[in-house]
Amino acid sequence: MSVLKLEKVSYHYANSKAKRNIIQDKTYKFDFGKLYGIVGKSGAGKTTLLSLLAGLTKPTEGKIIYNSKNLNKINSFDYRAQNCGVIFQQFNLLPQLTALENVMLAMDVSGKKYDQSKNKLAKNILRSVELPEIYDNKKILQLSGGEQQRVACARALAIKPDIILADEPTGNLDSETQNDIINIFDKLAHKENKCVIIVTHSQEVAKRLDMIYELKK
Ligand SMILES: Nc1ncnc2c1ncn2[C@@H]1O[C@H](COP(=O)(O)OP(=O)(O)OP(=O)(O)O)[C@@H](O)[C@H]1O
Ligand SMILES: [Mg+2]
Repeated sequence: MSVLKLEKVSYHYANSKAKRNIIQDKTYKFDFGKLYGIVGKSGAGKTTLLSLLAGLTKPTEGKIIYNSKNLNKINSFDYRAQNCGVIFQQFNLLPQLTALENVMLAMDVSGKKYDQSKNKLAKNILRSVELPEIYDNKKILQLSGGEQQRVACARALAIKPDIILADEPTGNLDSETQNDIINIFDKLAHKENKCVIIVTHSQEVAKRLDMIYELKK
C-alpha cells in the first residue's frame, strides 16, 4: 500500500494573475522503502509539489492521501511534526540556535516519546549524518552550507518520520559531500524502509533513485 498518493492533483497559486496550473492533473504514488526523485527545469513546480506533499498548501483540485486519509482532513502541523520530515531548499534552520538545539527543538515539537535522553539521541543523529561533534554547539550561521545541509537532514530525521521530503538536498555541494548526503537518503529508504522523496537537478543523484517523476513547464 502506498504511504502517500497524489490523486488527480492540480494546483495554481491564488495570487498569480494567469491562474495557470503549476501542477496539472498528477497521479503519483509513493511507497515505503523507496527513493523517489522529482525532476524538472527551474520553475517547473518541484518545490510547489513538495509543499503539497508536506501539507503546507492544498491542491486546488484532486486529493493527497496519506496512510488512507485525505491530507486535507488531518492537522498539517501534526503531520509535519510527527510523520513527515521536511528539508527545505533554504534549510529554514533557526540561526540563533546551535546545530544540536535545532535538532532537539524538532524532537520537542513532535511531542513524541524517545527512549533515550533527547540530547544524547540528537547527538547520535548528528553523527549519523556525519557532522563532526565539534559543530554540535556552533550557531547555524557559523556553519558552512554543507554542514547546515547535514543539520537540516538531522532535524528532519529526529522526529522518526515515515516520509522524508528534501528540496535539492545536494544543491551547491561538492561531489564528495553530495555523495555522503545521498548515501544517507539511500540508507533511509533501503535499510530503514522510509519513503524518501527528493527534488534534484543532479545526474549523479538521479542514478541512485528507484523512480523519477518529471514535471514539465
Ligand atoms: N508563492 C507563489 N506565488 C505565485 N507564484 C509562485 C509562488 N511560488 C512559486 N510560484 C511560481 O510557480 C512556478 C513553480 O515554482 P517552484 O518554486 O515550484 O519551481 P521549482 O521547480 O521548484 O524551481 P527551482 O528549480 O528554481 O527551485 C514558478 O513559475 C514560480 O514563479
Ligand atoms: Mg524549487
